[in-house]
Amino acid sequence: MDIMIFKDCEAVAEAGAQVVRNLLAEKPAAVLGMATGNTPIRMYKKLIADCENKTLSFKDVTTFNLDEYHGISPRDPKSYRAYMQKELFDHIDIDSSNTHLPACAKGEDHRVLSHQYEALIEAKGGIDLQILGLGQNGHIGFNEPTSSLGSRTRIKTLTRGTLNDNRQYFDDDDAQPHLAITMGIATILEARRIMLLATGEGKADAVRQFVEGPVSAICPASALQFHNDVIVLLDEPAASSLAYRGYYERVREQKIYLADQLKEG
Ligand code: PGA
Repeated sequence: MDIMIFKDCEAVAEAGAQVVRNLLAEKPAAVLGMATGNTPIRMYKKLIADCENKTLSFKDVTTFNLDEYHGISPRDPKSYRAYMQKELFDHIDIDSSNTHLPACAKGEDHRVLSHQYEALIEAKGGIDLQILGLGQNGHIGFNEPTSSLGSRTRIKTLTRGTLNDNRQYFDDDDAQPHLAITMGIATILEARRIMLLATGEGKADAVRQFVEGPVSAICPASALQFHNDVIVLLDEPAASSLAYRGYYERVREQKIYLADQLKEG
């Protein structure tokens, strides 16, 4: 894992946006895995600004979101489809037919829909860069603690903690879905590159557990330890519980040294 620690969430957003810019410069028709939540919003704003300045284009990009609530209409302002439209898609030059979220309305067969979502990702050549946030409980997507590390896209029951974290977005308890359809951990691990963003002190424990703790279903993000190309972008508060922080900084210095050597050679 490439652990990068920045002074604040603004710097995290800029670093995340730069990773996306670099990918699209190299591969304009990239497949991006998208995340919702508070954390990526600043990064999305930067990508929107790039599009407005015509320095970046999403016209050939395909996206797949991690998750969506079960039984929610895409037109519902609380849906993750609505979030993506508001926070990103409505403001960039992406072809909306290339933007995908998993979806499962009440009464639909979630097994069939989950399978179809996986098949579509595969048909588009797989995900080049999966963007992730991190739950305070260590979840990625809606893979809650105890999710199988081999899980694929499916329906998950949300934990009380996640319901509480997301309660602010719903007017009353009854309206808040307890189920979501989410890419599985094995699905996420198939992305060619993964970029996790975590900001704020509330994430410090989960960051320590997934980076430095044992791989365990109780901390789903710890499965990222199995992937060979993960970038972790943290602000100071989110990094504050890491035991090996000094080492991560030395690793970064040495990587820069190696890159400079290559340039000189
Ligand atoms: P947040 O959510 O970005 O709103 O903190 C992250 C997540 O739960 O994955």
